[in-house]
Amino acid sequence: MTPIPISAARVLLIIGGGIAAYKSLELIRRLRDQGASVQVVMTASAREFITPLSASTLSGQPVRHDLFSLTDEALIGHIELSRSADLVVVAPATANLLARMTGGLADDLATTLLLATDKRVLVAPAMNVRMWLHPATQRNIDQLKADGVAFVGPDEGPMACGEYGPGRMAEPTAIVEAIEAALARPGDSQDFDGVALSGRHVIVTSGPTYEPIDPVRFIGNRSSGRQGHAIAQAAVGAGAKVTLITGPVAVPDPPGVTVVRVETAREMQAAVEAALPADAFISAAAVADWRVDRVETEKIKKGEYGAPTLHLVENPDILAGVSKKTSQRPSVVIGFAAETEQVVAHAKTKLRRKGCDLIIANSVAKGTTTFGGDSNEVLVISADGIESWPAMTKISVAERIVARLATELAKRP
Ligand code: C5P
Repeated sequence: MTPIPISAARVLLIIGGGIAAYKSLELIRRLRDQGASVQVVMTASAREFITPLSASTLSGQPVRHDLFSLTDEALIGHIELSRSADLVVVAPATANLLARMTGGLADDLATTLLLATDKRVLVAPAMNVRMWLHPATQRNIDQLKADGVAFVGPDEGPMACGEYGPGRMAEPTAIVEAIEAALARPGDSQDFDGVALSGRHVIVTSGPTYEPIDPVRFIGNRSSGRQGHAIAQAAVGAGAKVTLITGPVAVPDPPGVTVVRVETAREMQAAVEAALPADAFISAAAVADWRVDRVETEKIKKGEYGAPTLHLVENPDILAGVSKKTSQRPSVVIGFAAETEQVVAHAKTKLRRKGCDLIIANSVAKGTTTFGGDSNEVLVISADGIESWPAMTKISVAERIVARLATELAKRP
């Protein structure tokens, strides 16, 4: 198949029944603005959220929803409908619709088209965070990815139901970008996503390390693990085998990732060594620079001698150690730099000192929400120069880092 410009694309848009359906109206408008034609199919539950009239007014074509409508079938049969598009987009894809797709059900027009199509399918999931994280949904996603279905989102953030987490439908602009990417990709197969890193092993470190002082106290830091975990998730989405080595965090394990839990920097270093060889190492953990030289075996008591003095010794630099390996050095090594001032200057020095291929630098100065927040604004520093990425969610930063990693790996033998 030759690449299709969005201005000439025929998109079959299946709208599922979720509150995010209102954003699909915006998606239709954006696609039409770019010159694409949009045939809308709505599920029965989608019609509880938005009206077919709104969708047909915006798309300029009658909306289809009935598998058994004689008039609709006389105009264009459902098999033809499933084949006459260049791309099938499901937005929003609810947990129920994803489950029906995974099972290969064909119990309404939407699922019948999805089963009958010979075209690429792009899915924008949207659901409550618990439903998204449920093992059943995650199993379905893994299966659909294995079947060659591509995904955009979901994003992380506040939900209409009042909860917070991953499950928000990707923004219409991001879905349009994913549609353009899908259309631009030559090749007939459906495996246009989830393959950029297939056959690659990626090691990611994430979260803080805790350095014990005594059995109850430790030295730690404010890293939440969100960025590192999002990178692990994005790498799995791109088809990689991922080992995630994480310090103590509250964020859930990304599905499909081998997770190794550690506490201290030295445990993290040992786990990284044990996980090698790898094609790439992404060091997103906020590793403690120092540890207490002698950990007390009993809890330190408040005593007559006043406050104790802690004597610190330096921890091993895991990133520098991996970058400077003479054997088993991963082809691409990516480090992070969280700086409170002179971000570029410090990050450039770090790139050289640590010997890595890329540094993702961000500011953690007072007033920024890099630690613990869900968005991030980063600079990407390499021997080729500096790129400044606009502020975006940590999930989007992760996806871009993984896309960049795929490009870097493709350049190397
Ligand atoms: O030197 P600094 O801590 O600012 O460097 C940050 C980068 O180095 C991050 O990628 C972090 O994961 C990594 N690092 C490491 N081991 C250390 C300290 C930092 O791998 N002991």
